[in-house]
Amino acid sequence: MTSQPLTIGVLGAGRVGTAVARQAVRAGHAVKIATGRPAEDIRLLTEVIVPGATAVDRQDLRGADLIIVAVPLHKYRSIDTAVLQGHVVIDTMNYWAPVDGLMEEFDGARSTSEVIEEFMGQVRLVKTLNHIGYGDLEVDSHAADDPNRRALAIASDHEDAKALVAGFVDSLGYDAVDAGPLAAGRSFENGTEIFNGRHTAVQMRALLAAECQRVFADA
Ligand SMILES: NC(=O)c1ccc[n+]([C@@H]2O[C@H](COP(=O)([O-])OP(=O)(O)OC[C@H]3O[C@@H](n4cnc5c(N)ncnc54)[C@H](OP(=O)(O)O)[C@@H]3O)[C@@H](O)[C@H]2O)c1
Repeated sequence: MTSQPLTIGVLGAGRVGTAVARQAVRAGHAVKIATGRPAEDIRLLTEVIVPGATAVDRQDLRGADLIIVAVPLHKYRSIDTAVLQGHVVIDTMNYWAPVDGLMEEFDGARSTSEVIEEFMGQVRLVKTLNHIGYGDLEVDSHAADDPNRRALAIASDHEDAKALVAGFVDSLGYDAVDAGPLAAGRSFENGTEIFNGRHTAVQMRALLAAECQRVFADA
């Protein structure tokens, strides 16, 4: 455990939500998991798929140190944003038109996470965990001193939130590399080299510099 034990809320009990929740339990965090449905509906799933985590009603995610949103992006408007107010929120969501359908708000120059933060209201949003496959998250975790340790990019307009999330990412077994403000999240979205690959922190920093130049030149 490389950071203090946190209380982690996970909104979404699908592929990503359960994988992140399992890895967070393994790291020693207290994990609560919820969907849009009553806790009872995911209690058995949680016991079997995420042992050690607690299934809760979404309202009971309030008060968590951070809340991870792992909901399909095309459903973002159905998220109960009241639950998230005042929290540090991790946005794992990606836009992929063949799955999400065409969504005008994500076809512009902004990062999908800028649109999401605006939608959510009073949250400190951090974009990360979106560019690692749910199946890789548990098997690609490495100790902090491992030279082969994988890096994950983090972007946010809130430095305190970014620091908290960097510690959390580290506790999951990954180097957190600061990509800059939320707008820089575009450099590790779907279709970028970072999104499609596995990188160490050194490689990630070089790619972020190049990707940022490219996406901001295109904007
Ligand atoms: N697949 C990957 O490897 C990967 C990796 C990183 C990031 N991502 C991104 O992560 C996001 C989630 O993907 P996924 O594959 O985990 O999706 P998924 O398996 O379809 O699971 C989605 C979960 O979200 C819940 N949900 C739906 N609407 C909700 C709402 N309004 N409030 C609360 N919970 C809600 C669903 O609950 P119900 O069953 O009750 O609807 C379900 O538990 C996507 O945007 C994806 O692009 C995917």
